[in-house]
Amino acid sequence: MPNPNDWNDQWNTGDAQIDQEHQKLFKMLLLFNEAWEMGYSLVRSTLDDVIAYTNYHFNHEEGRYAEMNFPELSRHKEQHREFLDQLHAFQDKLNQGEDRDALGYDFGQFLQNWLIQHIQSEDKRAFAA
Ligand SMILES: [Fe+2]
Ligand SMILES: [Fe+2]
Repeated sequence: MPNPNDWNDQWNTGDAQIDQEHQKLFKMLLLFNEAWEMGYSLVRSTLDDVIAYTNYHFNHEEGRYAEMNFPELSRHKEQHREFLDQLHAFQDKLNQGEDRDALGYDFGQFLQNWLIQHIQSEDKRAFAA
């Protein structure tokens, strides 16, 4: 099943700034998927961008949840950390020169699925609380 290419308004949390960040990350993951057609150097640089922006977004979001006294903050942080761990593990393999088949071409799809799931089941709940 192909991944969606367009943002679905059902994924909005209702917080304009957080939604803007989610949409930016969503677009970056589309670019990451497209980069595979254009060679490893673009895959690497796009992944660097994804990791940097994910860090930025998670830090911002965790700060917001702390201000809101969101009771599930520590569990939520753990989910963010696990996602970043997976990004870093993939980046390490890529930098070690593993070939595309060994890396798993579907990693971009996994990232996009994770993001949508996380927004729908976790971030939206935080803002609905
Ligand atoms: Fe988020
Ligand atoms: Fe989150």
